[in-house]
Amino acid sequence: MKSMRSPADLAINGSPPAFSEPLHVGRPNIGDREAFLARVNRILDNQWLTNNGPMVQEFEQRIATHLGVKHCIAMCNGTIALEIAIRALGLEGEVIVPSWTFVATAHALYWQGITPVFADIDPATHNLDPDAVRRMITPRTTGIIGVHLWGRAAPIDELQTIADEHGLKLMFDAAHAFGSTYRGQSIGRFGACEVFSFHATK
Ligand SMILES: Cc1ncc(COP(=O)(O)O)c(C=O)c1O
Repeated sequence: MKSMRSPADLAINGSPPAFSEPLHVGRPNIGDREAFLARVNRILDNQWLTNNGPMVQEFEQRIATHLGVKHCIAMCNGTIALEIAIRALGLEGEVIVPSWTFVATAHALYWQGITPVFADIDPATHNLDPDAVRRMITPRTTGIIGVHLWGRAAPIDELQTIADEHGLKLMFDAAHAFGSTYRGQSIGRFGACEVFSFHATK
């Protein structure tokens, strides 16, 4: 059995480091380099680097097919995608978000003059607690943004029921959840829309 570790075992406290080189957050796994470079060469050969080039279209199409959704739109990052989705849904006033998420969920609202209202999470799942969401609804609430924290699906059905009962828009910050499923269906198919992030930590 592995012995218990204590703070004194940490390299920062003078113990030998656990890894031979520093591991920075967001260090990606580099896959098939040759296949990647071949595609980069195709991009360069196309001589179409901006304005919805063929590789972007292929990317969107393949993601949409993979998830089984009608539309996939590539954006420069998850934060901007959240902002645009929020605007596209016409959210305003107050929008309920989980009290535990990455700050971009709230920023995407706040930067557009919308008040993020933080509802408690379920300590067992770290996702929105539907009862807490109900408690935070006011006459100014226009929507709910569920987050699939750590890739674990939020309580989608319960949140959809609340949204339907109160005439609210429901969308998901699925930044962590590419490849996750809910009741056998790919995340990406739920609510009015879902937003993924391809930042290296995802
Ligand atoms: C929950 C959550 N939402 C949104 C984002 C923003 O994604 P991006 O880094 O692609 O802008 C992140 C990124 O860490 C995230 O963890």
